[in-house]
Formats: sequence, C-alpha cells, structure tokens
Amino acid sequence: MARPLIIAIPKGRILEEALPLLARVGIEPEADFHNSKSRALRFATNQPDVSIIRVRAFDVATFVAHGAAQLGIVGSDVVDEFDYSELYAPVDLNIGHCRLSVAEPEGLAAEDQATMSHVRVATKYPGLTRKHFEAMGVQAECVKLNGAMELAPSLGLSRRIVDLVSSGATLKANGLVETSVIMDVSARLIVNRAAFKMRSGELTPLVEAFRRAVGVKDAA
Ligand code: PRP
Repeated sequence: MARPLIIAIPKGRILEEALPLLARVGIEPEADFHNSKSRALRFATNQPDVSIIRVRAFDVATFVAHGAAQLGIVGSDVVDEFDYSELYAPVDLNIGHCRLSVAEPEGLAAEDQATMSHVRVATKYPGLTRKHFEAMGVQAECVKLNGAMELAPSLGLSRRIVDLVSSGATLKANGLVETSVIMDVSARLIVNRAAFKMRSGELTPLVEAFRRAVGVKDAA
C-alpha cells in the first residue's frame, strides 16, 4: 500500500478556519481530533490515504520543508520568515487574516527616525524584523521569544516588539500601540517541492481541490 499523505496543520487560531476548508476539500479528521483531552498528535481522516498532524505553526513549515509531511497549512508570516527553498506555496487560503507589526509602549517619546541606527526588538520573527529595519538603514538586535512578546517592553527587555496583530486587543491590554505594519498575513497551502514532483498524481488534484474550496462559501 502507498504511504499516506500527511497534512500538517497548526494549533491555534488558523485551525478553526482550516477545518471547514478541509471539509470542503473532502477531508474530515477522526473524532479524536476534536477531543481537547486527547494527547494524540497524528490523526486518521475519512480518506484512508490521508493523515493529519497537529503541530505548532513554525513546525508546520519545518515538517513540510523536510518532506516529513507533504502538505501544510500555515500563515504567510511563517513562510516568509523561514524562506525555505523546499516549500512551494501555491494557494492563498484566504483565512487567518492578520498583520505583522511593530509596536511600542503608548506615549513613549518619539525617537528621531532619521538618526536612529540601532533598535532592540523582542520577536518570534528575527528574519523579517531585521529585513524590515535594514530597509530603513537601522540595525535590529532581536531578542527571540516564542510567545507573550507583549510583556517585553514593560519589563525592560526591549523597547519594541514585532508580533502578529489581529483585533489589536492584546496590544491594548498591554499598553502598546502599533507603529508600523510590516506585512499583511493570511494562511497558505504549502507543499514540499520534491513530493510535488514525485507524487504529482496525488498532490496536483489535492492542490486543485484546495484552490476550488477557497472560492466556495460554507452553507450557513
Ligand atoms: C497572537 C499574537 C498576539 C495576539 C494578537 O497570539 O502573538 O499575541 O495573537 O491578537 P489580537 O490582536 O486579536 O489580540 P496567539 O493568541 O495566537 O498565541 P501565541 O502567543 O501562541 O502566538
């Protein structure tokens, strides 16, 4: 029997929007997937040749880039931060909309942007952060965090943060204001390039099914 196709999907917010999309593609995970107490990480689906793994967003890109999973769903922030050559991102899934922004404490005295040469930034995105500041001739020293970036300014870790913003509620609750938007973000379907060539008979129709599903709304 052929090896099953593995689809990596992220825990967290994208997941809720990804499940109806997967259903429109004809893929429904087994019941245990919806059991919040389950410690399982790999799940069967209604399709005997398709399994789902549920991992952290950054790990979706890593599993797919290394070919351990053939397909994945992940934010364009993650795709751009890693910039893996092994990843092909053929479909914008039009879910998980948010933005990657720079933020700092409200009411902080403005710095002279023209003469600023160095900034310290707490972020999960050191690559995109450095690139953003470099384009303005500013060197960014990044303090890598994996979450709760919003705590950094008030505790003196860094004056600025770079993080995802959706409603803006997390920034507000932590006394921060958005000072610039680095990029708009939405979830992408990602495919391992080598697998796409070797298993094109299975993967091409699946990618096309995702493309069609993006244009179709769920029944109310
Ligand atoms: C994300 C992000 C912000 C928050 C922004 O974190 O890192 O903290 O959402 O959303 P808002 O603008 O609607 O408040 P998430 O809750 O997804 O968890 P994470 O910290 O694990 O990334």
